Amino acid sequence: TTADKGPFRHFMLKEIHEQPEGLSRVIGTILDRPSMSLLPPPALPFRFSDLKQVSIVGCGTAYLAGATAKYWFERFARLPVQVEIASEMRYREPPLDPGELALFISQSGETADTLAALRYCRAADQHVIAVVNVPQSSIAREADVALPLMCGPEIGVASTKAFTAQLTVLLGLALQAARDRGTIEQERLDSLLEALCRLPAAISATLELDDELKGVSRVLARARNVLFLGRGLHYPIALEGALKLKEISYIHAEGYAAGELKHGPIALVEEAVPVVVLAPSDELSEKTFSNMQEVAARGAPVILVTDEAGRSAGTALGAHILTLPTTDPALSPIISAVAVQLLAYHTATQLGADVDQPRNLAKSVTVE
Ligand code: G6P
Repeated sequence: TTADKGPFRHFMLKEIHEQPEGLSRVIGTILDRPSMSLLPPPALPFRFSDLKQVSIVGCGTAYLAGATAKYWFERFARLPVQVEIASEMRYREPPLDPGELALFISQSGETADTLAALRYCRAADQHVIAVVNVPQSSIAREADVALPLMCGPEIGVASTKAFTAQLTVLLGLALQAARDRGTIEQERLDSLLEALCRLPAAISATLELDDELKGVSRVLARARNVLFLGRGLHYPIALEGALKLKEISYIHAEGYAAGELKHGPIALVEEAVPVVVLAPSDELSEKTFSNMQEVAARGAPVILVTDEAGRSAGTALGAHILTLPTTDPALSPIISAVAVQLLAYHTATQLGADVDQPRNLAKSVTVE
């Protein structure tokens, strides 16, 4: 049955482990494996080449999937993106241009604020795409097009497999947009599609780091405050890592753009504040490594989440290093997302928390 934990202690852990299979399913909706080409998207009522901008709207983890996708749409499709917290957008009532695209991200498809924001965009004659896990949900029904996450029911209150599925669907959409707008070279597109094909295997390899992640989570379990730092695509994952940790372990955590370190959070850095640095190698990782040196110099225990090419930056500092599988830098946030899920999970279980039913939180927030 679906509500069966199988060999796992918690639904959250089971759902974390279901990611390679679920992602493989959803990748099958994005690209045709034999020909390694993008599949034609479902009948969209607009052309990406006619768009001037995109809004992406959600709450909680779904919002952070949108915050990550902003980088992909802007980089590959050269489309400006506003990412909106649904509860802010619906009451701010921003002026909206008709004919532009609004993307709504929701695991449950029932989040009240997200649904209200969707209705607001519809009323402004925007095109509405929903990325949802529950095809019969209100948000799916009220959208022009609903794209499924294909990851199966998610029971754990803290979203895990839905998040990586949201990221994957959004990346697929950004690549469609890029192709249609002629803003990506065929060669670059091909290499991204190949990396997408290898993503489930990379996620499996990440799950094999479970013991290491569990070991490192002892550093977090002792702390009262934790800082997560990331740049570019890893900034939203730093926010997600902090969100996951606070939701299920009740340890105060903040995610920060690494470049903002010196504009505030560095004042809090000391021996008792572990810093999780998300920096798989890319064109910005060197800059993040400098921020890592700044926190290490102040005595903070550093957990560096990187890949083979980034390891050496951490060894010199005596950091705890988690070496994720190497992938195309554009896809690495999907892999580091899994690492922060396991860090939060193991920290919470060491503290004896009920990770599937964290206090005060609900799986689906259908009231404001
Ligand atoms: C709740 C859940 C989160 C989820 C958020 C948005 O806060 O605990 O895990 O990210 O709602 O839910 P949705 O169903 O719209 O994705």
